[in-house]
Amino acid sequence: MTAAAAFDAVLDRTVAPGYSRFGFAARRRCWPDDDPAPGALLGRTALVTGANSGIGKAIAAGLAELGATVLMTVRDHERGEAARRDVLAQLPDADLVVEQCDVADLAAVRRFADSLIDRHVRLDLVIHNAGVLPAERTEGPDGHELSLTTHVLGPILLTELLLPALAASPDPRVVLMSSGGMYAQPLPDGDVEYRSGEYRGAAAYARSKRIQVALTPLLAQRWASSGVTVAAMHPGWADTPGLADALPGFRRLTRPLLRTAEQAADTAVWLSATEPTPPSGLFWHDRRPRPSHYRRGTRYDDAALHRVWRHCAVAAGLAR
Ligand SMILES: NC(=O)c1ccc[n+]([C@@H]2O[C@H](COP(=O)([O-])OP(=O)(O)OC[C@H]3O[C@@H](n4cnc5c(N)ncnc54)[C@H](OP(=O)(O)O)[C@@H]3O)[C@@H](O)[C@H]2O)c1
Repeated sequence: MTAAAAFDAVLDRTVAPGYSRFGFAARRRCWPDDDPAPGALLGRTALVTGANSGIGKAIAAGLAELGATVLMTVRDHERGEAARRDVLAQLPDADLVVEQCDVADLAAVRRFADSLIDRHVRLDLVIHNAGVLPAERTEGPDGHELSLTTHVLGPILLTELLLPALAASPDPRVVLMSSGGMYAQPLPDGDVEYRSGEYRGAAAYARSKRIQVALTPLLAQRWASSGVTVAAMHPGWADTPGLADALPGFRRLTRPLLRTAEQAADTAVWLSATEPTPPSGLFWHDRRPRPSHYRRGTRYDDAALHRVWRHCAVAAGLAR
């Protein structure tokens, strides 16, 4: 291991310094020649969910700056248009289209995918960034716990339905925005919908983010025949409207440490544009693959993973 790689690993394990703006700055110094080439995404079409705010808006800008046509996918059209205007103010030549879809509503996801497939024979990138931290246990319109639906069921269903358009790309890539919070949670095998015990929004959020990371290798296998590669990632801690809303106390305490949305978006943009295509099925942070576990209590066996996959596949309407 080089000294830089050892330093990087130490940052990862110490959490607070690694997830902060200082961790980003320290690692940034290790990849000066690693930025995607200007125009790397010219001719590519990228779909970004939750693109009206925070990290999603920064990802949309980062992809557009590299030349992609970006489908800024939001649940509120007006907020989407406002974000589009913000990005155009920085990047007047950006090619941005606002699309509407509530990813926690599986019927809406189906309608949206049908409409996209009608309008786009080819899609190159899908960044599942939309995120939520529910204050209390809430179910989406399909009767599934909201963070599970938003982070797992909606993204998997949307990707499955878009496979024909993704398969038409020479290099289709999918990114799932997870969270470092998932390190604290085991796979919720047996209670994927968080029906038992006291519901805590932060735990529900982290459980669903753990499921994203756990399922990523399975999804990599499942989508390989369409040529699709998939990466899960976490952005560190970033000062976004979502963080301010969901965790105001944490934000007050950590504000000087927090990354900007652009810093938090960096790895998603890099995974979308770097060459060669990153290997499929891994979990990334700051442009490098990271372990999925730091605690022994979070490990699971294949049987548990397949039970959770089975639950999600049935819930998303992909299996009976
Ligand atoms: N900020 C951090 O430190 C941090 C750390 C780890 C992981 N993350 C992850 O990064 C992603 C972006 O978070 P952020 O911090 O940028 O938060 P944010 O500012 O709240 O952005 C979240 C975005 O997701 C959208 N969204 C939520 N539910 C949706 C739904 N059902 N359908 C469509 N869009 C939906 C929101 O739309 P509305 O504006 O309409 O609500 C918003 O645009 C999330 O997945 C989050 O879990 C963030």
